[in-house]
Amino acid sequence: MELKNRRIVITGGTSGIGYQLVKQLFSDNELIVIARDQTKLNALREQFSGITTLKADLSKPNETKVVAEKIVNEYQYIDLLINNAAVQYCQLFIDDTFLTQHIIDEVNVNLTSVCLLTHQLLPTLLHQEKSIILNVNSGLALAPKTSSAVYCATKAALNNFSQSLRYQLAKTNIHVQQVFLPLVDTPMTAGRGVNKLSSEKAAEQILKGLETNTIEHALGKVKLLKLLLRIAPSFAKNMMKKY
Ligand SMILES: NC(=O)c1ccc[n+]([C@@H]2O[C@H](COP(=O)([O-])OP(=O)(O)OC[C@H]3O[C@@H](n4cnc5c(N)ncnc54)[C@H](OP(=O)(O)O)[C@@H]3O)[C@@H](O)[C@H]2O)c1
Repeated sequence: MELKNRRIVITGGTSGIGYQLVKQLFSDNELIVIARDQTKLNALREQFSGITTLKADLSKPNETKVVAEKIVNEYQYIDLLINNAAVQYCQLFIDDTFLTQHIIDEVNVNLTSVCLLTHQLLPTLLHQEKSIILNVNSGLALAPKTSSAVYCATKAALNNFSQSLRYQLAKTNIHVQQVFLPLVDTPMTAGRGVNKLSSEKAAEQILKGLETNTIEHALGKVKLLKLLLRIAPSFAKNMMKKY
């Protein structure tokens, strides 16, 4: 898809990879950005005049439904939905400090909101022209690490959801794509990991994948992970386990 004069809905556009996507898309496209923090949304609107911002806490299914309704009522069509917002909590189930609310928030933001937005925005994506749903995924969908079991589970579920949805929409104009990211330098990964991909580069490559219609797009080290999972699965899983 040529990324020019498109109407694009993007979740989590106020930070990290989502922010870079907004920065790189905004001059040529009409952007509708959903995020939770009103102050960050205001700053985004000031920096990129002309974008539309919608506040919604995607960990709350009711707020997700309301924001989707607003979009459906306001816009007849959308060309691209980028499901980018996510949260990751690094906590062990055995920890005394373990917070059960984090389980609910991770599942709701990373998975439930994607399913709800997809379902509710479907009428706006179904039209004569090609449209795309891009789900932003992680190498952790393919092989989990130790420190964030629920996050890894939501990303694995997102992977299956994306594939199944693709089967369901195969005869429509809607293309379901995924991008699998390696460790990227964003607020989500602050203070951990080395040799991280910059969020700017990650966004550039994500957009290239959209322009070249790459259905299952693995970036950077995820390409190597996929290869290792084929030729040496135990080694690959052990390598991921230590994080
Ligand atoms: N960074 C990595 O290494 C990495 C690796 C693989 C995959 N990914 C994926 O890449 C995507 C972007 O991650 P990132 O690293 O850029 O994260 P980030 O910098 O933490 O940004 C997350 C974005 O999601 C929004 N968000 C979080 N909780 C929300 C909620 N309850 N309601 C509405 N919006 C919410 C945030 O908005 P507010 O500030 O308004 O809450 C923010 O704009 C995610 O899907 C993540 O899983 C990241």
